[in-house]
Amino acid sequence: MCSKLLQGKIAFITGGARGIGKEIALMFAKEGCSINICDLSAENLKAAREEIASEQVEVESFAVDVTKLEEIEKTVNNILDKSKKIDILVNNAGITKDALLIRMTEQDWDLVISVNLKGTFNCSKVVSKAMMRQRSGKIINIASIIGLMGNVGQANYAASKAGVIAMTKSLAKELGPRNINVNAIAPGFIQTDMTAKLPEDIRNKMLEQIPLGRFGSVRDVADLALFLATPASDYITGQVFQVDGGMLM
Ligand code: NAI
Repeated sequence: MCSKLLQGKIAFITGGARGIGKEIALMFAKEGCSINICDLSAENLKAAREEIASEQVEVESFAVDVTKLEEIEKTVNNILDKSKKIDILVNNAGITKDALLIRMTEQDWDLVISVNLKGTFNCSKVVSKAMMRQRSGKIINIASIIGLMGNVGQANYAASKAGVIAMTKSLAKELGPRNINVNAIAPGFIQTDMTAKLPEDIRNKMLEQIPLGRFGSVRDVADLALFLATPASDYITGQVFQVDGGMLM
């Protein structure tokens, strides 16, 4: 019997060149999953690809922008030509462009909605076609607790992540009859490059609000993604799981 949880599975992880996305790719690879990652930075992709390949699994990387539907279509066709199927999609690519409403530019608004929300739409639309043919699949959307609670200076980000949560529930209803599970993870404060740029006083304020008394690690998020990618979660769909140390109850 095979002891690896994702042996023979094919995953596509967006924004997989660093942070949470890369950790999810590494964890899936350790469980025998073939990995496809996309990201904007070719340099980060190359480094991530080498790291993931050291787990002795097949890895492909694609320098594509999730906001460009045509690029995603080409990428997914490439994966399907080679692997014939996609079992797991992780919509992880995301950005912040924080500012108070009166200072937030139209570009800041459009870009965050475009990457976080439209990017999730683009990848789900294209990959779900293949999953519907397969009559199976797992879609895991990386949202944020900010999409549930809102935050000063993050109207664009909060709206995009709330949109991801609502899309998760809609797609779970739409794709459930085809045996496709769609769930969202809402991380709290996770230590990555994205949060490293926050000023220390804000980081300290946040820490005070976390009952478990520490920031989350990328591993904390990847552990849940792994559960949602395996048959252990086959009867779970349309749910939003917080990984936030108890920050939002
Ligand atoms: P990160 O900035 O370290 O990694 C995000 C990756 O996405 C980067 O490699 C970036 O190049 C890529 N990316 C950005 N725009 C893209 C595009 N248009 N097309 C393809 N790739 C693109 O961020 P982190 O912290 O790993 O975040 C990953 C996800 O988790 C994001 O969706 C973020 O909103 C979410 N999240 C993160 C939290 C945290 O505390 N770090 C908390 C809650 C949610």
